Amino acid sequence: MVVLLLGAAVPPKISNISSDITVNEGSNVTLICMANGRPEPVITWRHLTPTAREFEGDEEFLEILGITREQSGKYECKAANEVSTADVKQVRVTVNYPPTITESKSNESATGRQASLKCAASAVPTPDFEWYRDDTRINNANGLEIRSTGSQSFLTVANVTEEHYGNYTCVATNKLGITNASLFLYKKILPTLPNPFSGQYMLYVTVAF
Ligand SMILES: *[C@@H]1O[C@H](CO)[C@@H](O)[C@H](O)[C@H]1NC(C)=O
Ligand SMILES: *[C@@H]1O[C@H](CO)[C@@H](O)[C@H](O)[C@H]1NC(C)=O
Ligand SMILES: *[C@@H]1O[C@H](CO)[C@@H](O)[C@H](O)[C@H]1NC(C)=O
Ligand SMILES: *[C@@H]1O[C@H](CO)[C@@H](O)[C@H](O)[C@H]1NC(C)=O
Ligand SMILES: *[C@@H]1O[C@H](CO)[C@@H](O)[C@H](O)[C@H]1NC(C)=O
Ligand SMILES: *[C@@H]1O[C@H](CO)[C@@H](O)[C@H](O)[C@H]1NC(C)=O
Repeated sequence: MVVLLLGAAVPPKISNISSDITVNEGSNVTLICMANGRPEPVITWRHLTPTAREFEGDEEFLEILGITREQSGKYECKAANEVSTADVKQVRVTVNYPPTITESKSNESATGRQASLKCAASAVPTPDFEWYRDDTRINNANGLEIRSTGSQSFLTVANVTEEHYGNYTCVATNKLGITNASLFLYKKILPTLPNPFSGQYMLYVTVAF
């Protein structure tokens, strides 16, 4: 049986916690969580997403040296004593980092068809995309369309002609950096021989342009 001294026991209450913050990768971050209560509340920190890591000990200050992108997300401070339920509050830490291209898909197409090239980049804040044909910036014109959503960008050629074959560059930028990748639109040659399998099979031959 637990006997509480009324008047002396005070439930835990978080009195001050860091505001949500945005930092660049590699920064040192200190999160603060202060609580009142009697007995003195025990403070613990937990990284909720994505690692669900628990931090040991009684830590009013959570220090993260050289923060990485994996350490972004929600942090929870819990202040507990035996008087009543723990008080819990959260801080969101956003870690900015420069873009890296995660996917760049070349494609092949016969003339007269539609074709698209795909480029994806991982970055915080969300990257901006630009496309280049050799050294010339591509705009949405002359049957070319750029469509970018979040971390992905597509360049679509509505009607492929001979001059569309070749080398394209996808450039991903945010305020921390810039990177690019080369993609190719290859020519797909459809054989003109009659098909012996009554149209059920087709043989495609691809050549590098
Ligand atoms: C919270 O703590 C910080 C750091 O000690 C201090 O600068 C700030 O004034 C405090 N805020 C409140 C509301 O007590
Ligand atoms: C982070 O802290 C460490 C150790 O205190 C120090 O050596 C380093 O210079 C700090 N880094 C930054 C970016 O302030
Ligand atoms: C594609 O371009 C060719 C050559 O300019 C033209 O003959 C053809 O009609 C076009 N096809 C479509 C679907 O627009
Ligand atoms: C190639 O282009 C076609 C037509 O736009 C598209 O359906 C297909 O997904 C593209 N393939 C790749 C690997 O991007
Ligand atoms: C493709 O174009 C880019 C940008 O102009 C260039 O850096 C790269 O070397 C080219 N790749 C090939 C294989 O031609
Ligand atoms: C792609 O990146 C390389 C190396 O960082 C750079 O030299 C080149 O100019 C870039 N190309 C474009 C089109 O931005």
